Amino acid sequence: MTASQKLKVGFIGAGFIATYHSKSIRRAERNLNFEIERAGVFDIDQARAIAFAEASGHQMMTSPEEVIDSSDVIYICTWTSEHLDLVRKITQAGKALFCEKPLATNLADAAEIVRLCRQSNITNQVGLVLRHSPAYVLARDLVHSPESGRVMSVVFRDDQFIPIQGHYGSNWRSDVAKAGAGTLLEHSIHDIDMLHFVIGPITDVSARQSFFHGISGIEDVLTTHFSFAPLQSSGESAVGSLTSIWHDNLARPSLRRVEIFCEKRFITIDGDDWFGPVSWTNSDGSTGCLAGDELVSATRDLIQSDPNPDAAFLNSAYTNSPAYPDVAIALSAHQTVNAIYRSAHSGSTNVQVGEFK
Ligand SMILES: NC(=O)c1ccc[n+]([C@@H]2O[C@H](COP(=O)([O-])OP(=O)(O)OC[C@H]3O[C@@H](n4cnc5c(N)ncnc54)[C@H](O)[C@@H]3O)[C@@H](O)[C@H]2O)c1
Repeated sequence: MTASQKLKVGFIGAGFIATYHSKSIRRAERNLNFEIERAGVFDIDQARAIAFAEASGHQMMTSPEEVIDSSDVIYICTWTSEHLDLVRKITQAGKALFCEKPLATNLADAAEIVRLCRQSNITNQVGLVLRHSPAYVLARDLVHSPESGRVMSVVFRDDQFIPIQGHYGSNWRSDVAKAGAGTLLEHSIHDIDMLHFVIGPITDVSARQSFFHGISGIEDVLTTHFSFAPLQSSGESAVGSLTSIWHDNLARPSLRRVEIFCEKRFITIDGDDWFGPVSWTNSDGSTGCLAGDELVSATRDLIQSDPNPDAAFLNSAYTNSPAYPDVAIALSAHQTVNAIYRSAHSGSTNVQVGEFK
């Protein structure tokens, strides 16, 4: 892009998350130093495309190819099973790409997405949005500060009502061909990414799963224990657990609680994924707690790009520079997720994650 041009933004898939990004772009627009042009939108469900086009100002189109032709950057917001084919089309056209998480329904397709993006050298970003969350950015800073000592353990709980109901109302999440799997791949891939981000690479895992809703291939409870890569300072490894649940309690839309134990500091992330509160207790008895606007301003310098993930992506696309987090970061989460499923399928044996890139 040159400075005189507008950035033309297109959408493939016009459901829940596309609407979220569209509104987020609207908020980001005021602070961008270039203009956004709302280009094409395509959805196989025409009524959804019409509603999205009317609300956002995008032009309805009749194929993904038309959207790609009309746009400089394209958001892929379809069912997970469709991502790879659309990435192929977008990389062939050499356009910038925002792909929703998970990248694909399986590890091989996720790796192929990374290969295609590398080969075409396009700006690419993934919807692992918690990498921009002030709460997780602060937790990471607290964990790695020298006063904390070594990180020893983490307890991560994530629960929400199964998103085939309520405001999601998405039938595709109960179809393993479209979603790939259940609560771990579809939802808690965010949590695996946050464990990598806040603490470090996971080296081996052991897991169990249950299927309370009786939907083939869609686990609704998954618990896993894991070890992180040995610390350089001592060779000792932090260990932890994740419990991910899709229940039917409509009063609990999406809630996480994270407890991190370092040698000399205890940290919790509770409440809102973005605005905290993040609380901590030090071994000298001092405590801290940040939430809301205070948390946002305390972490502003720790977030290298724009705190709004969509603004960060559009800025990168406009300047033809790398975006964050990219598909390679997402592939690392897929590798860990894949190891967890292999363990769950094999009676919770210990499984090595393999090379962490
Ligand atoms: N980053 C996040 O926090 C987050 C949150 C929710 C969903 N997601 C991901 O976003 C993707 C979409 O989820 P959603 O909640 O928006 O689902 P949704 O059901 O609300 O919307 C998906 C839309 O894609 C359309 N679609 C399916 N295949 C298509 C194709 N080949 N071409 C064009 N349109 C097609 C459907 O008709 C539907 O309107 C999924 O991969 C999901 O995992 C990410």
